[in-house]
Amino acid sequence: MTESFWWQRGIVYQVYPRSFMDADGDGVGDLAGIRARLDYLRWLGVDALWISPFYPSPMADFGYDVSDHCGVDPLFGTMADFDALLAEAHARGLRVILDYIPNHTAAAHPWFVESRRSRDSPKRDWYIWRDPAPDGGPPNNWRSAFGGSTWEWDEATGQYYLHIFLREQPDLNWRNPQVEAAMLDVIRFWLDRGVDGIRVDAVQNVIKDELFRDNPPNPEYVAGPGRDPFDSLLRVYSGDRPEVHDVIARMRGVLAEYGPDRVLIGEIYNRVERLVAYYGEGGRGCHFPYNFQLVTLPWDARAIDAAVRRYEELLPPGAWPNWVLGNHDRHRIATRAGAAQARVAAMLLLTLRGTPTLYYGDEIGMHDVEIPPERVQDPWEKNLPGIGMGRDPERTPMQWDDSPNAGFTTGTPWLPVAEDFTEVNVQRERDDPRSLLSLYRRLIELRRAEPALHAGAYEPVEAKGDVLAYVRSGEGRRFLVALNLGAETQSLEARRGTSGTVVLSTNPERDGEGVEWTVVLRGGEGVVVRMD
Ligand code: GLC
Repeated sequence: MTESFWWQRGIVYQVYPRSFMDADGDGVGDLAGIRARLDYLRWLGVDALWISPFYPSPMADFGYDVSDHCGVDPLFGTMADFDALLAEAHARGLRVILDYIPNHTAAAHPWFVESRRSRDSPKRDWYIWRDPAPDGGPPNNWRSAFGGSTWEWDEATGQYYLHIFLREQPDLNWRNPQVEAAMLDVIRFWLDRGVDGIRVDAVQNVIKDELFRDNPPNPEYVAGPGRDPFDSLLRVYSGDRPEVHDVIARMRGVLAEYGPDRVLIGEIYNRVERLVAYYGEGGRGCHFPYNFQLVTLPWDARAIDAAVRRYEELLPPGAWPNWVLGNHDRHRIATRAGAAQARVAAMLLLTLRGTPTLYYGDEIGMHDVEIPPERVQDPWEKNLPGIGMGRDPERTPMQWDDSPNAGFTTGTPWLPVAEDFTEVNVQRERDDPRSLLSLYRRLIELRRAEPALHAGAYEPVEAKGDVLAYVRSGEGRRFLVALNLGAETQSLEARRGTSGTVVLSTNPERDGEGVEWTVVLRGGEGVVVRMD
């Protein structure tokens, strides 16, 4: 094991600021709210918080449509609130990672307002403008991630502009060196204030095909109810282009100006074979591209086992792995896998090799909340209703205690609070040794204490049925992790002569139990065994 950085040893916790804690009673979370809850994060034991966007924004995509990359939206507070949050986080030994959104701005951003003004605008080329196709329609067949064409007609100047996401999120033209320089300065702005890293939003989309060729049809796509037409094309020309790696290398270069400790994490949804390219050649890419396999795969032991092995094999030399169980774009783990499996998932996330990222509320077992039609907020759901694309269910307010609105706000929360909040909340779970929160805390403590778990090697173990098993080792210690991803009792025949002691289990009664050869796991049970 070689010397490691904090972002390798540590655990990242994602805060969705609208929903974490509301200090001013307007029903939307804010920076002062996050600050008020830092002691909780410290107690939980995480090392860094990644805060989703709080910049000035018309909120068409709830902050991912930025109208000033170097400010704070009044809804979330002021720059002084941000500085106070950063200082207080640092005083507690917590790092702060910001969301950096390079692919697009809000349509209300002064750059786009200027660009749209006329074809001769000095900022025309800061965005992607194209003439209509010969038939008068959009320039090519690309589709927007949130429904419809990726091209929006601008009547006044007689051209289309490109938006991979909403029409309110026009894409910047990163082939223009002025755009690149301005956007790299945004990174410097926040690093100068002292932030510890960036999570780079939709980074594979930043560079598009120079010729704007049509995307080819996806042969595996079957049209029909519940299908997202976005998947009908293979997105080979609208993103993931070879030149994107040069752009990321220059972003990485900016971080390097501030020393080796600032981290660059890329948000990339792609096949793992493509994903690993984002580490970049010679370490010039992301410190790690987010690995979303635990969010995208079915909750199935054999599928996950194969994915972990494959990922480990494909990682380039020196590349640091990472795992994510949930985020603000995907349905919650307690809903995808079920409440019982949320415990197994916690153990998996916190014992795999590589940096874990936790999504707020997953540690107490928050599940997706059904949103009544009149309270739907997410534009994705509004554009493609009823096919499960909506992201509101996984963005509901954090459940702190059993007071009204779960202690999140004194006002009316922007999304409904889960009905079971009087049972599922931080205050109640803190003191219950059997709670999911207690399990998370103990797993975090163990991971931190044991180099084998935060820095050691990974070795797969052959298992059958619903059992997933592997060994983590380092500094003379070996831990067998055995997880039952199913509901029935299963057993793992470990190697002959294997013996050890359960140091942590999803079922606290098993702690301290001796293990010889065979590990029996009840449905939804997982154990970490220290091997003799
Ligand atoms: C990323 C964000 C998502 C956002 C999109 C557009 O995928 O995680 O929430 O809507 O980019 O910025």
